[in-house]
Amino acid sequence: MSAEFDAADVQGNILRGYRKLRVRHLMLEIADRIAARRWLAASTSGRDEGIPQITRGSWGDAKPDSCFNIGLTYEGLQALGTPGSSLKTFPNEFIQGMSARALKLGDVGKSAPEKWPSPFDDPRRIHLIATIYADEVAQLDQVQRRALADGNALRLLGTREGCCFPDDQVHFGYRDNITQPRFAEVHDPQRYDDGQPMAPLGTVLLGYSTNFEGLKWRVPQPDALGLNGTFNAFRVLEQDVVGFEEYLDRTATDLLANPQVDELLPRGAEAKIASSRRAALRELVAANLCGRWRDGTPLALSADAPDPGVDRTKFDYADDSRCPYGAHIRRCNPRGGQIVQRVANNSRRLVRRGMPYGPAYDPEKPDRAKIERGLLGNFIGASLGAQFEAMSCDWLNLGLQDPRVTGSNDPIVGANDTETSWFDLPLKSGATIRLRGLPRFVHTRGGAYTFLPSLSAIRFLGAL
Ligand code: HEM
Repeated sequence: MSAEFDAADVQGNILRGYRKLRVRHLMLEIADRIAARRWLAASTSGRDEGIPQITRGSWGDAKPDSCFNIGLTYEGLQALGTPGSSLKTFPNEFIQGMSARALKLGDVGKSAPEKWPSPFDDPRRIHLIATIYADEVAQLDQVQRRALADGNALRLLGTREGCCFPDDQVHFGYRDNITQPRFAEVHDPQRYDDGQPMAPLGTVLLGYSTNFEGLKWRVPQPDALGLNGTFNAFRVLEQDVVGFEEYLDRTATDLLANPQVDELLPRGAEAKIASSRRAALRELVAANLCGRWRDGTPLALSADAPDPGVDRTKFDYADDSRCPYGAHIRRCNPRGGQIVQRVANNSRRLVRRGMPYGPAYDPEKPDRAKIERGLLGNFIGASLGAQFEAMSCDWLNLGLQDPRVTGSNDPIVGANDTETSWFDLPLKSGATIRLRGLPRFVHTRGGAYTFLPSLSAIRFLGAL
């Protein structure tokens, strides 16, 4: 069955971003099944019963001051008493949960689920993740108090809090939140035409057509539960900012002594990038690792220096593109470029709703103390297996999309190991300079796979 698209039935953070300054994720355990069902029913009642109302995708121009959304893990659906006949219609990767999928996701070594701190060290107890978005901490506190006021339904296991940096910057100093899939059905005045094909709704909502002709992702049953829902990979990703900056330092120094350096950065070209040749090489390496200069300029459009004048969204990867095949954004979204699995072009697109956590790193005052900082990422798509996992495994970590990167990991987020890692910097002649010894810059510190039910599905669960 196809769903009738009704933005008011879809949770609000899926198809459009709220663009609030702060986020708080509450990891919750269902303490009492009946009280939790009442809580869910009240959260969609449209009446002020104290419990925050779930924000819908139909907020138009009147965006609420604070927004509130929920996701349920498989254990959460079980704890609510969802019938077994329905539970077994959910996809395997969701049933198993994120920690059981560690190998596929590169969650090994220091990133392994056994090393995750509380509450992610006991994933079976995480039933529901409630997320609050607002501009002020006081608003987050107030919504949290209301969500937990009925002391019977839910037990708070832990929280994670994030805060936007100016200009959509994230740790490592890049500008993020530039590319998101767009949908014909969603009017979002803040999104511009980016030259990429519109994503069919079925990329991110269950019950609609996908890029694959005639194919839809299987909707968990009954339809009242599955339609208009989607899945989310919530990830707590710690970023080693000091390690990243030190790597750029070392690499710039090595490159200065490399006989091919003048082809990489012609004499005099550094003036358009930074105040010294070494500083320009640092930035050039950072840009190549990501596929964008730190200000967001795509290398595909401006490979020699950042250019604030280019349209940061409209580009593709032609055969002669100067964006490295292995760069983060090219690996995650090869756009129309040639890849081994051509059928997968544009099919693995994810909605990303992330925010940094921890204090911003100030290069003028390098803090060697162990201050944790990173990204609270939500990677949303209708199929965890075919989108988030396929991207993480085949593209970010195995590099199966192009023989020229096969056997290497994503330079920014991949499960790199200094002994074996490599990354090729392209030169104009077609030759490359191979960088080696990239450490792992991003470690997983927790997460969960959640199902983001529609408003009708939340009511369905509330009435079980
Ligand atoms: C801390 C970890 C990460 C950092 C610092 C990071 C950083 C970035 C930056 C700076 C961009 C460019 C901005 C934009 O195009 O909107 C980007 C794009 C993107 N990232 Fe990441 N990222 C991280 C983790 C991930 C992970 C784990 C995935 C997927 C599994 C991912 C998927 C994407 C996708 C799909 C894009 C858009 C590419 C495009 O459509 O052109 N990122 N990321």
